[in-house]
This record gives sequence, structure tokens and C-alpha cells, in this order.
Amino acid sequence: MDAVLAKSRAIHHMPSSDPVAEANHRIANSLTLLVSMVRMQASAAARRSEPVTAADMRLALEAVAARIGTIGQLHRMLSLAPHDGATSLQPHLRDVSATLVAALSSPEQQVRVEHSGSDCLVLTRQVQPLVLILCEVFINAMKYAHPTGVPLTISVDCNSGPDGRLVISISDDGIGLPDAFDHQKDGGLGFRVIRSLAAELGAELSVESSALGLCFRLSLPAAAMPGGKLS
Ligand SMILES: Nc1ncnc2c1ncn2[C@@H]1O[C@H](COP(=O)(O)OP(=O)(O)OP(=O)(O)O)[C@@H](O)[C@H]1O
Ligand SMILES: [Mg+2]
Repeated sequence: MDAVLAKSRAIHHMPSSDPVAEANHRIANSLTLLVSMVRMQASAAARRSEPVTAADMRLALEAVAARIGTIGQLHRMLSLAPHDGATSLQPHLRDVSATLVAALSSPEQQVRVEHSGSDCLVLTRQVQPLVLILCEVFINAMKYAHPTGVPLTISVDCNSGPDGRLVISISDDGIGLPDAFDHQKDGGLGFRVIRSLAAELGAELSVESSALGLCFRLSLPAAAMPGGKLS
């Protein structure tokens, strides 16, 4: 399935010097990914043995709506960014986080997001996979971090690592992954999409889980430096 996701994006990558054509390719890629994700969810639902509750149904539909909303918002934002240059990542992370919190939080699961770090410059074409990863991590945190409904805090940080690489981390203060969960091969749609997009970005993905929470850390090659110029 990871291969299916990667292929559905790779086939359609066609960098162009025409901003409109490039934007159209990006939107088409996002929609293709979205369709693959909905289909994967449909086949996972077909394999379920337990009955689906109204709460499961609400969460699944809210997650689809959040993914569509994120992609819509992303393309509105990218329409203002230089299509073949660098763009500042933090405003995108802040805007999408705020929208996801508004869409997914409820009186039963309240959420606060803390942003820190510097204003990281990334290539405009890297914003889309990074924001889609953020979306999956947020959906999971809302679903699993605090099963008892304790208010959730998600921290998003963007900074330069010791070797000049760009490091983006997203962590929650929840219960962490289930015992024996292997983040390199286990999981459903969320982990597959995260691994596949991280590979597409050429990013190293590390996942640290403890009883104090779950942290995803992406380390990107030094194509873009926080607050600096593209190398
Ligand atoms: N923030 C988190 N805190 C605790 N457990 C988590 C967290 N995120 C994910 N998990 C665990 O990892 C599992 C796999 O997550 P993944 O997103 O891959 O699939 P899913 O959310 O179960 O299904 P889908 O993403 O297809 O809707 C989850 O079922 C959950 O047990
Ligand atoms: Mg998930």
C-alpha cells in the first residue's frame, strides 16, 4: 500500500516553469492522494469484524473532512507563494493547525497547540507533503493520545539541527503508542501516509513514544535553511 501511495504521487510530478500548470499538477496530486486514502479507508472498513458505531462513523467522516479541508486551505495558501522558490513554513503550520483544531476538537476532547522554533524556509513544493503529515499526526493525536478525554496539548517545532538540517517535530502529551507497535511497518492509513510522504521528501523520520507522549521528528536535507537562503 505504501508503494501505491508513493506511485500515485510520483507519476504525476511534473515540475513546470508555468505557475498555473505547476499549481494544477499540485492540486491534481493532492486529489489523487486523497482518493487513495479514502479507498484505503473503505477497504479497511470492509475488513473490520466489529460493528461500526455512530462515534466511529463520525470520527472517520470528520477525518475525511479535515483532510479535504487541509488540502483546500493548503492550495489557497500556496497560490500566494512563489511556485518555484522558497516559502516560510511556520505560517502554513500555524494556519493548518488552527483549522484542524477547530474542525476536530470537541467538548469531549479539547486541544491546545503550542508553536515554537524559527521561521523555516522550505522549497514551496515541500510544503504540501509536510502539511499533509501534520494533518495525519493531528488526527491521530485527537483520536488516541488521551482516551479519557484529558485536554490535549500538541507541540509543533521547526528548527535547524546541529548539522544544519531542518528539523520539524510534532509531539503530543498523551499515552504513547501501544506496546510492541513498530512504527516502521505497523499502523493504518496514517502511518503509511506519513512514511510515504517522509520518503518522498527525502526526510529521516524518527518516532519516539513513551508514557509521556508521542513525538514525530522529521529531518530534512539542507536544501532549505531556517531563516537563511536555499543552498
Ligand atoms: N498520538 C497517538 N497516541 C497514541 N497512539 C497513537 C497515536 N497515533 C497513533 N496511535 C496508534 O497507532 C495506530 C496506527 O495509527 P494510524 O494512523 O496508522 O492508523 P489508524 O489511525 O488506526 O487508522 P487510519 O489512520 O487509517 O484512520 C493507532 O491505531 C493507534 O493505536
Ligand atoms: Mg490515523
